[in-house]
Amino acid sequence: MCGIVAYVGSKEASPILLHGLKRLEYRGYDSAGIAVLNDQVNVLKKKGKVDELKKLTQKLKPTGTLGIGHTRWATHGAPSDVNAHPHTSTDGKIALVHNGIFENCDTLRSALQKLGHTFRSETDTEVLAHLIQEYKSRYNVPLEESVRLALEKVVGAYAIVVMDQDEPNKLIAARKASPLVIGLGKNEFYVASDATPLVEHTREVVYLQDEEIAVLEPGQKLSIKTFRNEPQKPAIVELDMEIEELEKGGFPHFMLKEIHQQPDTIADCMRGRLNAKEVWTRLGGMETYRERMMNANRLIITGCGTSWHAGLIGEYLIEDLARIPVEVEYASELRYRNPVINSGDVVIALSQSGETADTLAALQHVKEKGALIYGIVNAVGSSIARITDAGSYIHAGPEIGVASTKAFTAQLTLLSLMAITLGKANNTLHPEYYKELVKELGEIPNKVRNILAKDETIKQIAASIKDASNALYLGRGYNFPVALEGALKLKEISYIHAEGYPAAEMKHGPIALIDENMPVIVLATNLSAYDKIVSNVQEVKARKGMVISVVTEGDKRIKQLSDYTIEIPRTIEPLTPLLSVIPLQLLSYHVAVMRDCNVDQPRNLAKSVTVE
Ligand code: G6P
Repeated sequence: MCGIVAYVGSKEASPILLHGLKRLEYRGYDSAGIAVLNDQVNVLKKKGKVDELKKLTQKLKPTGTLGIGHTRWATHGAPSDVNAHPHTSTDGKIALVHNGIFENCDTLRSALQKLGHTFRSETDTEVLAHLIQEYKSRYNVPLEESVRLALEKVVGAYAIVVMDQDEPNKLIAARKASPLVIGLGKNEFYVASDATPLVEHTREVVYLQDEEIAVLEPGQKLSIKTFRNEPQKPAIVELDMEIEELEKGGFPHFMLKEIHQQPDTIADCMRGRLNAKEVWTRLGGMETYRERMMNANRLIITGCGTSWHAGLIGEYLIEDLARIPVEVEYASELRYRNPVINSGDVVIALSQSGETADTLAALQHVKEKGALIYGIVNAVGSSIARITDAGSYIHAGPEIGVASTKAFTAQLTLLSLMAITLGKANNTLHPEYYKELVKELGEIPNKVRNILAKDETIKQIAASIKDASNALYLGRGYNFPVALEGALKLKEISYIHAEGYPAAEMKHGPIALIDENMPVIVLATNLSAYDKIVSNVQEVKARKGMVISVVTEGDKRIKQLSDYTIEIPRTIEPLTPLLSVIPLQLLSYHVAVMRDCNVDQPRNLAKSVTVE
């Protein structure tokens, strides 16, 4: 979950690297560094954010037209100047940046120390720099070959970019299970761990594939070989990402911008897949596999974090509307608990980034067992998208705020489309109900807009809980996973401890915590269990808890019992999560801002978690 950027060409490298690192800061931000070549390898690195590194470069002014850069999220060794990337070989001539983990680094380090290499950092990355130097001096081969030989010895997942003072016009990039994109310019090359820093320089990119090594030399064609030395033809693709998409668009934070984008992103996710007038839904990615999904032993939905919460709602939707058995598992558990999975199962993977290591590992495991894998992914061309047999992109656009918002509602939109489409095919939906669902789903973007217009009211409510130490979120049925997501949003960005519970479970434990200092956020929009929710609210009030309720427009009973109420438009129950989560996103956002927290880059969290 670190960020890589590299450049070789005729321009000054350091401004390109620093700007690129800034764009990638959402991937990791506890330290950053660059290495620029000018006769010698000049390494500058600094604990803290990219701005700290920027100050250092303003002072030292490194020059050179070839360089590599990195923003780090620590795995091996604490965040510090010395542990920051790039790392260099003993002779200081070879420098490299690395995303991922080398699992056998301790063994390699001891062997290299015996051969006289001296280590400066505690990182796994540094091992590779020494190993490359070792092969270079032993065999006197070009840099790409010494990199290839060194990679044969390391075990793990990685994306790397390497430079060598003795080959001053060349960068080597390689990957295994961690993404790397090469940007093609005129007599110049860019490399980055995702396309974000490339958009402003070039539209032509090549996604490096697993176990490939690329040689980037200005004036020469891009050369790619596999780890087994087989030449590959680079597949050049056109980027369709706009720079403005990456900017904040007038909002103070990416998270707020992304919350407000949701009417559009939900509509984008439905485009070409739903027609409310003609009353049809279709998912192109699912067509070939629909029968297999309908006849599956069960569908297993997997993911991590917010994606896992979306999966829980997917279970409610698919079982309710299409009557196909569904299980939802954290990807990390699915991978390591030895589950019974076979070719009769269909695994649905949910991931915004498409790079989450736990999800990827789970998919590799279920693939070996013969299950069909269906991906619901945001990042186009990502590792998860590539490992799946079929899938649907959610088309939410780049999500920069670490706390996922628009990707979550786009995932819910896609899962709703899937459940409705499967329900129709399975004849488990009455035609009238199908029609109602299709029409209502088409209305969701407008209803989300209506809730976003209440931002100011929600901000005032946020002020009432900003000093709380704990918060409880309650919901029933479709609103239970929303309660989990609401609690996650609050803890992620405001650092207030929060828990989500099925409302009825409150009496089995959490009720003991309720007193005047405990805000309780109750999702009370369900019509089916309305009376039971009224009782839950009464139970909280009887213990002096502060109740913030999310209710359907026109509600009177719960409103009367609550300290604060947020009204949301009426919808049919299976689509409720698409609306009820919106006020919770805004609530967390405002609380975090009031507590002066770094909303877009909360402490210890990363946007894309590429380590298990
Ligand atoms: C990290 C992010 C979360 C995200 C989770 C899963 O923890 O901070 O926002 O929900 O990873 O990521 P994915 O990209 O697979 O959806």
